[in-house]
Amino acid sequence: MKTYENHSLLPYNTFGVDVDASYLVEYDSEEELIQLLQLDLLRENKFLHIGGGSNLLFIGNYQGVILHSHIMGIELKKLTETDVFLRVGAGVVWDDFVAYCVAKNYGGVENLSLIPGEVGATPIQNIGAYGVEVKDVIYKVECIDVATQEKRIFTNPECQFAYRDSIFKRDLKGKYIVTAVWYKLSRQPQLNINYGSLVDEVKQYADINLQTVRQAVISIRQRKLPEPKVLGNAGSFFLNPVVDQNHFDALLQQYPEMPYYDLHNATYKVPAGWLIEQCGWKGKSVGKVAVHGSQALVLINKGGANGLDIINLSDSIRASVKEKFGIDLTPEVNIIWG
Ligand code: EPU
Repeated sequence: MKTYENHSLLPYNTFGVDVDASYLVEYDSEEELIQLLQLDLLRENKFLHIGGGSNLLFIGNYQGVILHSHIMGIELKKLTETDVFLRVGAGVVWDDFVAYCVAKNYGGVENLSLIPGEVGATPIQNIGAYGVEVKDVIYKVECIDVATQEKRIFTNPECQFAYRDSIFKRDLKGKYIVTAVWYKLSRQPQLNINYGSLVDEVKQYADINLQTVRQAVISIRQRKLPEPKVLGNAGSFFLNPVVDQNHFDALLQQYPEMPYYDLHNATYKVPAGWLIEQCGWKGKSVGKVAVHGSQALVLINKGGANGLDIINLSDSIRASVKEKFGIDLTPEVNIIWG
């Protein structure tokens, strides 16, 4: 376990915002986490558990303890003729795990290639891309109860997964810390290549398999999304909003070219990136921040921006989308006020 005082969070948030935390603690095992939760340091200060810091926006210095897991390891727990069960430490970098699965020919996570972050965060916000969500392959989630330090296992249904959402973000927010995730992957992979931009991208490969699907996803992401080490960002800044039938009918009449996903319950998801682009924001700079030129859903730190610069841009975007389309955009990024 390592504890640092007044430590910079610059390497711990992909937005590249330069703030400090009163304390930063990195632990290496479940046992260390249990000890840690019993210390006065955590009982007397507020704390925030982070993963890769790829979905966070710090507005100011964090006056408390930042916790970060270094629980590593990918363990093969069970192999059947059709499936493989893997137990993965919360601190494993997500894309290292995806690369491992693809190399072993275990199918199910290849569409989630190159998503930044660590394994422990994947069940919390149910990461998703190109027609796949991590809920499709999560078998169970091992956690420690913050209040009692007891171990608790959540089965997939108990996690109550939804679009970028789970019980860990709602009723149980802050109450459990994920230590390991079990994934059930397929040894007879069914490729999932029906998502819009992936359909065309895979056409250039002679053979379509886990490796080439991973390659195709990586190519699309590299084209559309900025590399956080070069331009600070946290991926999609907003959730894709859902509108009801009446609102949808009115919008489609006015904007027949509007892309959408029919959720088949008289509601429709509309891409926030399209709405933002229609308001003229794509590629626009405001001081040290900007809207990405290849995907309007991504806000970027051009260098030296602080959290408020980003929030101000986000507020201006939300106001334009509200005015033009009558839709309230909700940030997907977790905003930490200090
Ligand atoms: N679009 C525009 N202009 C833009 C961006 C998008 O018109 O600037 C249109 C596209 O042409 C397309 C539609 O919007 O018709 C959807 O675009 P895209 O496929 O890029 O996906 P998205 O809905 O904007 C979501 C996820 C991404 C994920 C992609 C691919 C959310 C909030 N975002 O974006 O996730 O990579 O689908 O599956 O659901 C992330 O969460 O950080 C993230 C990058």
